[in-house]
Amino acid sequence: MAARGTGLLRSLLSRCSSPGPGLARCASSLPPPGAWSSLARLPHRDLYRLSVTDPDRFWGSAAADRLRWEEPFHRVRDCDLRAGKIRWFLGGKINVSVNCLDVNVEKHPDRVALIWERDEPGTEVKVTYRELLETTCRLANALKSRGIQKGDRVAVYMPVSPLAVAAMLACARIGAVHTVVFAGFSAEALAGRIQDAQCKAVVTFNQGVRGGRLLELKATVDAAVKRCPTVQHVFVAQRTETPAVMGPLDVPLEEVMSCQPPRCPPEPLDSEAMLFLLYTSGSTGFPKGLVHSQAGYLLYASLTHQYVFDHQDGDVFGCMADVGWITGHSYVVYGPLSNGATTVLFESTPVYPDPGRYWETVQRLSISQFYAAPTALRLLLKYDQSFVKKYDRSSLRTLGSVGEPINHEAWHWFHSVVGDGRCPLVDTWWQTETGGVCIAPRPAEDGAAIVPAMAMRPFFGIQPELMGEKGERLAGNGVGGALCISQPWPGMARGIYGDQQRFLDAYFKPYPGCYFTGDGALRSQDGFYQITGRMDDVINVSGHRLGTAEIEDVLDEHPEVPESAVIGFPHEIKGEVPFAFVVLKDYSSSSSSSSSSVVVLQQLRELVSTKIARYAVPEHFLVVKRLPKTRSGKIMRRILRKVAMGTTGDLGDVSTLDDPSVVDEVIEAHEQHRKRQEGEKKESSSSPSL
Ligand code: PRX
Repeated sequence: MAARGTGLLRSLLSRCSSPGPGLARCASSLPPPGAWSSLARLPHRDLYRLSVTDPDRFWGSAAADRLRWEEPFHRVRDCDLRAGKIRWFLGGKINVSVNCLDVNVEKHPDRVALIWERDEPGTEVKVTYRELLETTCRLANALKSRGIQKGDRVAVYMPVSPLAVAAMLACARIGAVHTVVFAGFSAEALAGRIQDAQCKAVVTFNQGVRGGRLLELKATVDAAVKRCPTVQHVFVAQRTETPAVMGPLDVPLEEVMSCQPPRCPPEPLDSEAMLFLLYTSGSTGFPKGLVHSQAGYLLYASLTHQYVFDHQDGDVFGCMADVGWITGHSYVVYGPLSNGATTVLFESTPVYPDPGRYWETVQRLSISQFYAAPTALRLLLKYDQSFVKKYDRSSLRTLGSVGEPINHEAWHWFHSVVGDGRCPLVDTWWQTETGGVCIAPRPAEDGAAIVPAMAMRPFFGIQPELMGEKGERLAGNGVGGALCISQPWPGMARGIYGDQQRFLDAYFKPYPGCYFTGDGALRSQDGFYQITGRMDDVINVSGHRLGTAEIEDVLDEHPEVPESAVIGFPHEIKGEVPFAFVVLKDYSSSSSSSSSSVVVLQQLRELVSTKIARYAVPEHFLVVKRLPKTRSGKIMRRILRKVAMGTTGDLGDVSTLDDPSVVDEVIEAHEQHRKRQEGEKKESSSSPSL
């Protein structure tokens, strides 16, 4: 088999045998129809090699044969990473909803597309491909009936649910651009995103349900849209019995959908037309609205879903993410549906009604692939193993982890307790910007080893590079540096909505000719990649990405806070939590424990919760007189991190500090704070519980 594959590769490459010019000639001609099925039979090593040495052949074949085109593309790519120019499948016209729905309805209309695993166990709802197409078309027609057109932006403020999926696909059907906003974000955060994207409509529910609690979604939308003059309509669906209070902008979604035809002609869209915007935090300023386009994104989501997770016909794919994050976009919606999978929409929490919920769901729904965040695993492994063991998990074939580094304890627990040591566990590294998984242990040669807690291998077409401090490329193994990717791939984001300069500055300027990920990584002696974490001021709280600057901006709005600095601080379950150093105006009467500062700190917690979201509220506050700054006024966060960690023995180079005595002040404040906390802990453990 291997020999046959190698021979096939040789014959494919022989068509481009002369180096340089030959490759260039090949690159401009399109692969013959059906080429993908021959390529897909190659051994992994050869297919990976082809994907990076002849990306036009690899991606051109995959796109032509795996996707349905309204009009074929005439050029595979036109990219220049130095200029941030990324264009794939030029001249092609496509509709993503056709690829996710119509093609499956033709093949297997009654196959279940979605299993909505609702909050209450045992109340799941199944939706077939035929039903999902009809619902999507009715929703698309409802949007059209209120004037939503190709290119308009539509905010979706809904937890994961069939209607949220239909809203995304309905936008895709008519060429509107969806921007899903995680339903845990506050009214202010929602308003900021709607304003930035200039959304014409919002789609929401009256309420949400999670972990037995209600979320007041419509009320949040009402508060947000007051500040959003571009919004002309708010489509309101019913998740609970409680009727929503309807205002002049509000449209009862299900009622309008019921009067619409169940067919809606798909809009043929340019490969590079916008499919969606998704806001994510950067190290500075307001979250960035990352732009993903049609064909390249879909192909990448589809291929990674199949190969990383070993998707096979008839599988039930269980990605626990919410549609408000990129993981939900690529591995709850677009990847699985484009492959005709049955995908699980998990509305609840890992501990509702008890810590066996995930595994009871695996048993009841016969889940084949289970994909979750390390934060949930760290939480669950604290409970007795019987919560896992009492359920039948024999349907599981692949386990996956995403969103943050997975520690060894969580990896081994997931692998041996949940997977009984028999399922490959893939630690998948990727980002909102990358569209899909870029580094993961699979695909690989049959039976290739998986190193615990390591992302390991680049996906097809991904060429990782590690860069040194002077911007030099680090060759060989056993090195560590800034993780970059030196070749474009179809799934990468195309821009930041309304701010192409920021896109260039953040990703393409730091290492010219490469995409810079913002993460650091090591390349092991065996040539595998280990992610070491963010190199910028972005932190990861329970797998949710946050810019420390975003939190500081909110803290600094308080009249008593002239300045603040936020860093990421390790947390056993959440991975990281925000730690805020705040300077108060009237420092003389303040310490973290004085009554006036206790009031201010509580106000700060509320402020962050209402301006961003609950998960962004700093877990630790330390009131300080001044912050350590360089002579040019830049806060030295490196020092704050060491103070917070209590590792001030080696502070490194402090020669650029404007006033080095600030460091002693901050250390002293931290010491006092620590002693007080210890005292409080002792007191509470010695007082009788009532
Ligand atoms: O720091 C990396 C971390 O999450 C960041 C991307 O966050 P976001 O855009 O929200 O996407 C999360 C879901 C794909 C990365 O820059 N990250 C993601 N996956 C891993 C990870 N860190 C370590 N290991 C991972 N597997």
